[in-house]
Amino acid sequence: ILKLFVALAAGYFLGSLNTAVIVGKIYGKDIRSHGSKSAGLTNTLRVLGKSAAMFVLIGDILKGILACIIGLLLGVYFYSGEMMDSVSLLVAGAGAVIGHNWPVYFKFKGGKGALTAVAVLFMINWMIALLCILFFIFIIALTRYVSLGTISATMLIAIISFIPVFGHTLYFNMFISLITFIVIFKHRGNIQRLLSGTENKLTF
Ligand code: G3P
Repeated sequence: ILKLFVALAAGYFLGSLNTAVIVGKIYGKDIRSHGSKSAGLTNTLRVLGKSAAMFVLIGDILKGILACIIGLLLGVYFYSGEMMDSVSLLVAGAGAVIGHNWPVYFKFKGGKGALTAVAVLFMINWMIALLCILFFIFIIALTRYVSLGTISATMLIAIISFIPVFGHTLYFNMFISLITFIVIFKHRGNIQRLLSGTENKLTF
């Protein structure tokens, strides 16, 4: 239990290093008062441009991966059924997403957690992560709404994780349920804008 707490804390403190806020500060803008006001990759691209977005892309992926490595090293494994899970990895990964969204260093105002969540998912099951990314790109190519791509891909992963054929464990499903809830909850403003036809489209 202590190790799980350490995993959660490590993930949270790492995740709190919200790259969009940090890069925004370097560019002299608080990303949280521009565009969609979200401290994430999409809004950085929108407000600060491609090179800033590149830093955010790399930073947010790296912190998710690093959190998972720490979780993995802590080595807490639980069985559910026939399968074993690195629960410390799942907890550290969840901590990173929570930290990204509600960062302790930046007044708890962060992003929506999708990119960090994908990085974590990649460490858990790269095939599902890849599927998620492909579906995300497909929806954006179709509609030009990044938020719709994120929401759709998140829902797809949630559905997949409950299909027994993929052999997922109880802990993986708990992790996915939590992440799905957080990501969708964070997109509530986007959902409203999508429904009223006022959501921003991706433009180059
Ligand atoms: O992952 C964030 C994306 O889905 C939406 O970002 O800035 O348009 O709210 P944004």
